[in-house]
Amino acid sequence: MSEESSSHLWRRARVLINSDALLNNLNRVREYSPNSQVMAVIKANAYGHGMLAAATVLDSADMFAVAMPEEAFALRASGCTKPLLVLHGFSHVDELQKFAALKISTVIHHPQQLDELLESDLATPVDAWLKVDTGMHRLGIPADETEDYFGRLRNSSNVAKVYVMSHFANADDVNNKLNNSQLECLLKVTNDVDVDCSMANSAAIIGMPKSHFEVVRPGIMLYGSSPISGVTAEELGLQAAMQFEAELVAVKQLKAGDAVGYGSTYVANRDMTMGIVAAGYGDGYPRHAKNGTPVWINGQRCELLGRVSMDSISIDLTGVEAMAGDRVVLWGRELCVDEIAAASESISYELLCNAGAACFSLRE
Ligand SMILES: Cc1ncc(COP(=O)(O)O)c(C=O)c1O
Repeated sequence: MSEESSSHLWRRARVLINSDALLNNLNRVREYSPNSQVMAVIKANAYGHGMLAAATVLDSADMFAVAMPEEAFALRASGCTKPLLVLHGFSHVDELQKFAALKISTVIHHPQQLDELLESDLATPVDAWLKVDTGMHRLGIPADETEDYFGRLRNSSNVAKVYVMSHFANADDVNNKLNNSQLECLLKVTNDVDVDCSMANSAAIIGMPKSHFEVVRPGIMLYGSSPISGVTAEELGLQAAMQFEAELVAVKQLKAGDAVGYGSTYVANRDMTMGIVAAGYGDGYPRHAKNGTPVWINGQRCELLGRVSMDSISIDLTGVEAMAGDRVVLWGRELCVDEIAAASESISYELLCNAGAACFSLRE
């Protein structure tokens, strides 16, 4: 076991990271997309799973993607030699020099980056990933300028290899019309150029084989959450890489009419047994989880009662054998994080990041 976040030692709630699950999920990516290289997305501390540990476990991926230069620098400092792409690219020329020295690839998504890259004097050329806005309207150059950018990058001595990439806005919704329109846009603007492309995130890896191109970019599916609305992680053969656990610290009786927690939002409609679990929004449990959100203890699913507090939640233990000190699973193998995300009007991405950032973390 290795400690990932010692600043959280004093919290009792914990996240456990399962290396076998990460590898299983990487294998699922390879099965869905056997002819593409895999760029594992390990930004945001590998969605809360610990970036350095995830990079070690996922060493058989072909490349890694992170969002920020600092993440890439940290990976290199830890000894990672894998091809690395910074999705936001570099912000200023000094940073670009460091990319070149450390063999870090950059995204080019706006004109200033292009100019700075072309005007630099780099000792070693960098790989450039030209990001094209095909309809998401976040980062990316206008699609009709692709050929111009591509030509200028390819002719620069500061650039080793040029790739073209884009990102889907709605791939989780398999019937969304924008998916095909984005794909067609990328096909159109790359029609006359011989270039390696990348477009597919997890949802598109599963749902849109035509978007796989030369490199796929899985994130959430590596961590065991379903990227597609209405399909479970289990149905997709994905395994939870994060186990989020806490401890039962009290068992008490409620009488019909008793209200629970801040705001008294839950009122018992019968006499019942209630448990207090030592995890709350301070540990990354979602503050907006509703009454009835599932929580697992001693082989049974129980329901959340009332509001989530900073360091505790209340659960209905009526009919459950449990005592203070028992282990409680907030999500993981027994309970998919997608269920808790749905019950708290959030997404698994946010829940995993928050728990990973807040909690003491171990590798299983
Ligand atoms: C540019 C880019 N590619 C790939 C991914 C991975 O997406 P997902 O986690 O949905 O697989 C992300 C994540 O946000 C991203 O921003």
